[in-house]
Amino acid sequence: MKRFDEFMDEALYGASGFYVRGGRPAVRGGDFATSPELGTLFAQCIAGYLDRVWDELGRPDPFVVVEGGAGRGTLCRDVVAHVVACRDAVRYVMVERVDSQRGDARAAIGKSGISGESRVPDDSLARIGDADVPERVVAVADLPVGPLVGVVLANELLDNLPFRLLERSASGWQEVHVERAEPAMAMPQVEEGHDTSEQEIVQPTAGRAAEVLRDAPADAAAMAEVMAPDAAPGARVPLQLKAAVWVRRALRSLERGRLLTFDYGVRRTAELAQRPQSEWLRTYRSQRPGHDPLDSPGTADITCDVAFDQLPPGATLSTQAEWLAAAGIDSMTADARALWQRKRSKPTAAALAARTLLDEAAALTDPDGMGAFWAAEWHVG
Ligand SMILES: C[S@@+](CC[C@H](N)C(=O)[O-])C[C@H]1O[C@@H](n2cnc3c(N)ncnc32)[C@H](O)[C@@H]1O
Repeated sequence: MKRFDEFMDEALYGASGFYVRGGRPAVRGGDFATSPELGTLFAQCIAGYLDRVWDELGRPDPFVVVEGGAGRGTLCRDVVAHVVACRDAVRYVMVERVDSQRGDARAAIGKSGISGESRVPDDSLARIGDADVPERVVAVADLPVGPLVGVVLANELLDNLPFRLLERSASGWQEVHVERAEPAMAMPQVEEGHDTSEQEIVQPTAGRAAEVLRDAPADAAAMAEVMAPDAAPGARVPLQLKAAVWVRRALRSLERGRLLTFDYGVRRTAELAQRPQSEWLRTYRSQRPGHDPLDSPGTADITCDVAFDQLPPGATLSTQAEWLAAAGIDSMTADARALWQRKRSKPTAAALAARTLLDEAAALTDPDGMGAFWAAEWHVG
């Protein structure tokens, strides 16, 4: 029997976890698409932001950019290619928990040539601090300790950090646990007259998981009560302690700088308590909402709307659409818009490329999609 967060940790990052066994996260045609994977516009907006922050911080050198949950390195590759003012000072640290993805990220960056070296160092220990960042791009398994001067970024990381799940009962709060039945032993069907010598090996089939509710420990129940005091019996809330700890560690790693995260979520946990769990605890497979998270663990991503009131205070929240507008996405696409207007009746190849860029901008700012994600920014020092 495991607590839900332990079950989720194993389902995503365990030996047979979704990310570990090659679920295809964050890739076009993969299980879901993220902003950096749509094209380079999102990265260009981040690059412009880094140039501005570098200036605001007094043009530090090195200027350390740490990206949590860097996945396959796409954002890193495109940001490093587009920074201008801080170009020579940037030291980019990709932080990715899954070894195989870190390997893919290092290979992608090495191949792109942006790091100036064909080999991107992999240091599973995060010993980076102060001026001790010799390489232009490195990949590590955990957040650096710091102290750093720069920016910590994360796109769609917080929703992926395992969370606890509590349910309001008539008398208090209960916590969701998951019981995974022992793998059932199944005998393969044997056709008559067929040589069975190899087929008769008994093979395990995937075990089925089931929910078990137990009285929540006092501290977890107290937290749920504070976050959602008006929850009705049967209502559920996530407790996103790992996300809160990650944000706190990121803030502590900075001597001066910014933490900027993008994710779907809500301002207040209480909003989640009023909605069915299926609306905010989702699975993704092949870019579509998947099945119940307890079915076939390891075959789909499991994510949760981020409850921003559970994270350390001090963040400025804006929607992704607002943030990208402030970062200048309209002026970046102005030429493409003009070209498409002129040539839309008889589009040239250039006009079609302009159309693709406009589609990308529309997807990034879609008020019913990514545009409604939250950009959360903390200032340090
Ligand atoms: C939803 S994917 C987003 C990938 C990428 N940021 C993007 O936007 O395309 C989340 C990534 O975070 C990684 N991850 C999860 N927990 C992590 C942690 N504690 N530290 C670093 N990476 C983590 C996962 O392995 C996965 O690659």
